[in-house]
Amino acid sequence: MSKVRIKALLQTAGTGQEVVVSGWVRSRRGNKTISFIELNDGSTIHNIQAVADANLFSDEFLKDVSTGACIRVSGNLVASQGSGQAVEIQAKEIHIYGTADPQVYPLQKKGHSLEFLREIAHLRPRTNTFGAVLRVRHHLAYAIHKFFNDKGFFNLHTPIITGSDAEGAGEMFHVTTFDLKNTPRTEDGNIDYSQDFFGKETNLTVSGQLEGELGALALGLIYTFGPTFRAENSNTPRHLAEFWMIEPEMAFHDIEDNMDLAEEMLKYLVAYALEHCAADLEFLNKMYDKELLNRLRSVIDKPFTRITYTEAIEILKTCGKKFEYLADWGKDLQKEHENYLVEHHGGPVIVTGYPKDIKAFYMKQNDDGKTVRAMDILFPWIGEIIGGSQREEDHAKLLKRVEEMHIPQESLWWYLETRKFGTCPHAGFGLGFERLVLFVTGMTNIRDVIPFPRTPKNAEF
Ligand code: 4AD
Ligand code: MG
Repeated sequence: MSKVRIKALLQTAGTGQEVVVSGWVRSRRGNKTISFIELNDGSTIHNIQAVADANLFSDEFLKDVSTGACIRVSGNLVASQGSGQAVEIQAKEIHIYGTADPQVYPLQKKGHSLEFLREIAHLRPRTNTFGAVLRVRHHLAYAIHKFFNDKGFFNLHTPIITGSDAEGAGEMFHVTTFDLKNTPRTEDGNIDYSQDFFGKETNLTVSGQLEGELGALALGLIYTFGPTFRAENSNTPRHLAEFWMIEPEMAFHDIEDNMDLAEEMLKYLVAYALEHCAADLEFLNKMYDKELLNRLRSVIDKPFTRITYTEAIEILKTCGKKFEYLADWGKDLQKEHENYLVEHHGGPVIVTGYPKDIKAFYMKQNDDGKTVRAMDILFPWIGEIIGGSQREEDHAKLLKRVEEMHIPQESLWWYLETRKFGTCPHAGFGLGFERLVLFVTGMTNIRDVIPFPRTPKNAEF
């Protein structure tokens, strides 16, 4: 007897064989003589139907084969009598691994709200929706590694604990082994981090970029794909306190090369998902968002629009639409502005040349003295999905910017030193993984595309 997963079983269609399948019961229905068990093992959105004859299985026994129970079914694979499936299992033996008391098991066959499912994140992977989302998430992660590997990039593991603030925004979680009720103090009353575990003040990384640059200036083409942490108190459907970021960094690339790579990558990933996650995406399209598949296809079809920040402000000022926040040169673009730009251009937009004062210290400065070679990619439904830039490779200019922005130099000496020893033009960007998964699955809240979300006041599971 072969032990198979349901996905493979449904693809073989070879009836007559004896099979063994294990999984979780989605539902059981039937009458006095026959029971139909819908079984799912997570390998696919589709269930296999097991048919249990009352001559072989008593009512008493089948009572425990209820929604949520985990069972193993052995039997013959036969052509299905009913509609809706090609094959089914004629059960000969059923082993119950674990029951799920219907009185208390929180997941029932009827649909549950996504909000309710967030409260039972330990069980929600067993729903059709989260099964689909988590499988799509897996395929996208795999596709990212494949995309970069096929292009000759090396995966660089950058640290999760760091002593610097890559984005200079100060939104960091501290890492310490101090007893917080009794921290050692220096003579002037400040916390004495020299006595802490690392002998200095440390935090969870907000980005792997700075270390990524060190890798690019040796290996040429690298990417990181790791967890990043932001202690910003943003309770929005687009923000997590712990999220995963993909950050490629490329030596000898300028801002144009950077945009080309980012656009190629996003199209590749969306196309990959359409090809490899068809059943799950069709389910999500049907259940949540009838425009999903069309929207995904539209992103692959045509070039992304490329405009400068200055042009974007001009468009926003002259479009005649009333915004809540004024669009004004020097101010950051708000979500409503990003949405308008995407709608106006009918698809993804890449905005470059932002004012230097609203962007990070490491971005390459333009000759106008006002703007930097930044790029943000704005996506339908999502807003900013990628942020990146060409990097300032000139030591004197970079140092001046660090000073102007009051960035603590002592935590960045190693970064600055790369501009003294064999510096070169280079560029990179960061793709927020959950924002990508959000776009591809058509879900509306970022908490529903990561297995165990971390947001303000929420770290239960
Ligand atoms: O624009 P950000 O802050 O850029 C960086 O961190 C650069 N170091 C990247 C680089 O050039 N290597 O973040 C990059 C992307 C954003 O465009 C967004 O998709 C995502 O990361 N992101 C978040 N995703 C979920 N929750 C949050 N709180 C996020 N903050 C940023
Ligand atoms: Mg950004």
